[in-house]
Amino acid sequence: MSGDTLRVRPGLARDASALRAIRLEALRDSPDAYGETYAECEAWDEQTWALKAQEWNFYLAESDGQVVGMARGESHDDHLEMRFLFAMYVSPSARGTDAARLLVDAVSAWASAQGVTTLYLYVSIAVPRARAFYSKVDFVATGSSLSMHRDEALVCDEMGRDLANFAFDIRRVAPQELYDLRRRVLRDDTPAVDVSNPADDLESAVHFGGFLGERAVVSASFYAVAAPFAPEKDAYQLRYMATDFDVQGCGLGAQLLARALEELTQRGANSIWANARTSALSFYEATGWSVLPDSLFVSRETGIDHVVIFRSLGQGSTTL
Ligand SMILES: CC(C)(COP(=O)(O)OP(=O)(O)OC[C@H]1O[C@@H](n2cnc3c(N)ncnc32)[C@H](O)[C@@H]1OP(=O)(O)O)[C@@H](O)C(=O)NCCC(=O)NCCS
Repeated sequence: MSGDTLRVRPGLARDASALRAIRLEALRDSPDAYGETYAECEAWDEQTWALKAQEWNFYLAESDGQVVGMARGESHDDHLEMRFLFAMYVSPSARGTDAARLLVDAVSAWASAQGVTTLYLYVSIAVPRARAFYSKVDFVATGSSLSMHRDEALVCDEMGRDLANFAFDIRRVAPQELYDLRRRVLRDDTPAVDVSNPADDLESAVHFGGFLGERAVVSASFYAVAAPFAPEKDAYQLRYMATDFDVQGCGLGAQLLARALEELTQRGANSIWANARTSALSFYEATGWSVLPDSLFVSRETGIDHVVIFRSLGQGSTTL
């Protein structure tokens, strides 16, 4: 397997059948690695899997569009303040590629966004390859261990990974680095949709990425375009504001916007506007934006309700 188009993404409710398939494959392939059994999970009906896909914070590794691995990031019932990696699995065809590391990094990024400094896991003594992999990606045994409920002989060692390399970092990026986020979060992950913008490579366009480790989790692009309600004024238009599904609500989008607006102000910008989804209005209003009265419209591109929002930059008050 070349792994040329290998990617890891947060799983969504609509991934229920893919989740079922890869989880059952894992339980069949490596029964001693997990607390749950194949028989137990095979008996779950479609509705149960639909519920799991909604409730679990899970990640899928895909190679050439095929699911080749999964992992979960969760807090532990007995340790609510800790974040754990669970259900880690890579199909035999994708072992030895970057899939396993990308999965662990995706979960590490999520854990870091939740404010913890260590990601924990339990690894069974029956899966030495897994133990070797975890050591390779800097998990260290904590000295604690426990046995699986269903089989006392299956001892599991606790390991922890320091998340210092996963602090939130905001930087200017090439637009292409943000296309996967644009497509997944804003365009339903539709392969046929072109998520590039003709203005992306103009010198006046500015693109910001928010990263947790190497994983891009927030995107925002700014184009030097006057607002339709003030065509005589220089302004920037914000487009493609997106935070990945698993880290929404952690304050990362607001941090990125604050930093981006600071930089645009330094570049001499004094006014900024956007066509914002009405579903995201509370986010914008909480970060100082105002809604242009009577500006509700349906986007031709997405069919979603939008309003025009604006903000003045620098010292000025929020006026048109
Ligand atoms: C655990 C898992 C996700 C790791 O992914 P992977 O792609 O196989 O990992 P890698 O190949 O990058 O690393 C595995 C390492 O173990 C080594 N290894 C292979 N077989 C081994 C064995 N029997 N004993 C010890 N080490 C072994 C490999 O050589 C490799 O190290 P290297 O890169 O230094 O040579 C994957 O093997 C898997 O899904 N296994 C089955 C399910 C499982 O055990 N899950 C863990 C639940 S806690």
